[in-house]
Amino acid sequence: MKVATIALLPGDGIGPEVTAAASSVLKAVEDRFGHAFDLRTYAVGGAALDAGYPPLPTETLEGCLGADGIFLGAVGHPKFDGKAPEERPEAAILKLRRELEAFANLRPARVWPGLENGGSLKPEVVKGVDILVVRELTGGLYYGQPRGVAEDGQSAFNTMRYSVEEIERIATVAFESARLRGKRVTSVDKANVLETSRLWRKVVTDAGKRYPDIELSHEYVDACALLIASKPDRYDVILTENLFGDILSDESGAIVGSLGLLPSASVGGKVGLFEPVHGSAPDIANENKANPIGAIGSVAMLLRHSLKLDVEATAVEQAIGDTLAAGYRTVDLVPMDNKPPVGSKAMTTAIIEQFHAAA
Ligand code: IPM
Ligand code: MG
Repeated sequence: MKVATIALLPGDGIGPEVTAAASSVLKAVEDRFGHAFDLRTYAVGGAALDAGYPPLPTETLEGCLGADGIFLGAVGHPKFDGKAPEERPEAAILKLRRELEAFANLRPARVWPGLENGGSLKPEVVKGVDILVVRELTGGLYYGQPRGVAEDGQSAFNTMRYSVEEIERIATVAFESARLRGKRVTSVDKANVLETSRLWRKVVTDAGKRYPDIELSHEYVDACALLIASKPDRYDVILTENLFGDILSDESGAIVGSLGLLPSASVGGKVGLFEPVHGSAPDIANENKANPIGAIGSVAMLLRHSLKLDVEATAVEQAIGDTLAAGYRTVDLVPMDNKPPVGSKAMTTAIIEQFHAAA
């Protein structure tokens, strides 16, 4: 039996709905495997700002630092669009990643059997696609100093900065991950233009020498963007810096059917942070339309990476696969045999039923 404290940060838009799905699945895992999870909910993002707090309230950060794992729904709302960066919901997630020192963002994108016709590509092109984007998460343009807007407002600037140590540790995560999968790493950069990318390529190449069993190749980010959209099955692990990884992980989502399917883990720091890749989608909030699979897949990653509950994690993923195989589809997915779509809650219930049925 595992006793663990899990911080739940619902956030904005569809965040609370998918967090409800995540917490039901955590309860199902407790029931089936006899664990005891203490689930504690904290305010974050626009929801915290609306209540008169900063985007990442002190109590939330402390709750996260004291937890064994953190689940975050989503943050962001267009009503904060004109605000200064530190008064926007997104500030919460950027600060949280940094405070946690969660430098390794793992974003798996796989085509679930039966969903090959659901994305933007032909079924024969996406069949069997299983990509893991390993994105550096606490460096690069997102955090580099100096940054700002010139006094006259006529120019603005950001700094892309990477140290050898930052590149080395994320490369290690990518190589170790590849060992448990297809044993191939594609490192993505813009070494034909950027100094940071040239350093990146050199450090990754050196790190690769410690992994002779892993096939390492390098690609420019523009070429990679093209190839993900045309020959996605050539990839196993994609290793890249913060901004490139942000973009390429969304692109991977488009080809596997829906961004709503993608889970993520941010690890390597003090406490693991797990969140669906989809955003807050305020346009469909409170309509019971959100796809809970990205959130439930993130629960599986939390179980595996933070709680070391591998059997439980695999059982949750199995239940997602079984539910999709049984024809359940939320509105963002292509229907099976013209069956009408199910809501967020019905999808969650179906996944939990499959999970218990497999016990
Ligand atoms: C993501 C999001 C975030 C990012 C935003 C909300 C700050 O797009 O997790 O991919 O850019 O990292
Ligand atoms: Mg993004």
